[in-house]
Amino acid sequence: MSIRTCSLILMSALLAGCNMGPKSSYGFTLPDGDAAVGKDVFTAMSCNGCHSVAGMPELREGFDPELKVVLGGKTTRIKSYGELVTSIINPSHKLARGYKDEDVSIEGMSKMTNYNDVLTVSELIDLVAFLQAQYELELHPRTTYPPYTY
Ligand code: HEC
Repeated sequence: MSIRTCSLILMSALLAGCNMGPKSSYGFTLPDGDAAVGKDVFTAMSCNGCHSVAGMPELREGFDPELKVVLGGKTTRIKSYGELVTSIINPSHKLARGYKDEDVSIEGMSKMTNYNDVLTVSELIDLVAFLQAQYELELHPRTTYPPYTY
């Protein structure tokens, strides 16, 4: 076996090892949620006080919102439910991109309310179903290079 093949096998074994560690999300699957119920949970829990949802201005009508962190819309990478669930139950793990730190966090901690003792698991599942459906996958156009001639 060549050194190259050998190191490839070793690398994939290491990577697989990382994915399957005790803290890995391997095997984590949410049941299907009800997006319509999730939309109601979104307003009932005042998520709309800090978040607007792409294409749904009605969610912010009639009051003065505290913050404007947009959820949904075009992304280059689909938001997996793993990411969405984590953003809700552990907002500070990774702060939303495209904002000034001081607009979304205080001393590295997300300004987002902690809902862990408030949301039921069913509400979380429905919320994630609602939010996931608001993202629209838009892949980067591939760069095409002209033929190269001397
Ligand atoms: C007090 C304001 C506030 C409330 C209320 C709030 N959030 Fe947030 N949320 C934030 C801020 C600020 C961020 C950006 C920083 C971060 O990523 O944690 C954020 C980030 C997020 C993100 C990640 C966005 C991204 O692009 O990475 C999701 C998803 C989210 N919130 C969902 C919710 C849901 C669902 C609710 C209601 C249950 C909610 N938020 C309520 C302030 C809030």
